[in-house]
Amino acid sequence: MAEVQVIALGGSLLRPEEEEGRQIWFSRLKQMIVHLEGMEYKIGIVVGGGAPAREGIALARDHVNDERRLDEIGIAATRINATIIQQVLAQVGIDVAPEIPHSVSDGAQLLREHAVVCMGGTLPGHTTDAVAVALAAEAGGSGCIIATNVPYVYDSDPRINPDAQYHESLSLEQLATICGVGEPLAAGASAVVDPVAVQRAMDDSLGLAILDGRDMDRLENAILGLEFEGTMVTP
Ligand code: UTP
Repeated sequence: MAEVQVIALGGSLLRPEEEEGRQIWFSRLKQMIVHLEGMEYKIGIVVGGGAPAREGIALARDHVNDERRLDEIGIAATRINATIIQQVLAQVGIDVAPEIPHSVSDGAQLLREHAVVCMGGTLPGHTTDAVAVALAAEAGGSGCIIATNVPYVYDSDPRINPDAQYHESLSLEQLATICGVGEPLAAGASAVVDPVAVQRAMDDSLGLAILDGRDMDRLENAILGLEFEGTMVTP
């Protein structure tokens, strides 16, 4: 059976600051997925909402006091970003599912039929990290890769604490003490890994690889099961 790999692709990765960086990143993503398709991998790509999600939620927050309604705005942004990746991959002839599924079970079904499935969020109450972990569990993956814009999981926020220590390996229990577990974040709020995703990984004994997705080599190494720079979380 083909090996299944699921990637939670942080929405911020679609918009690296400078124009040139963005074009190089898209080119490397296409090359990598063509390579993996050639090796008969099945790849689920769950794309985050990034800046459009945060901006949309912030714009509505003064007028909407229901977190679930705000979550729906975030979900819409994730689906736009998923469509961008889907169309970019389709353009180079990759066998990518023509729909953006609305549920994890639909995503898993499409992954049986296609080499690649791109999707965004599904329901309020969690982020795309949790969708990716659920897709990995349902599609028969052994773990989930969380590609974000920090190189490691740190013991505290390195933007606030210059002495924050990074971790190359953690257990899921240790990750849970750093990120929290089970408790949903507020709409648009950020954590290195969504606590709902940590809970799901614990429930299904799935390992996680958390890495800086701006560097495609790290992402590709993690997918191929090679040594990679980032944090490996074991169940
Ligand atoms: P993201 O998945 O993009 O959050 O969802 P994130 O991981 O913090 O951000 P990036 O993109 O990786 O930087 C954005 C928002 O969309 C809603 C939530 O409000 C979340 O904060 N959302 C997303 C859901 O409610 N359900 C989902 O399945 C996905």
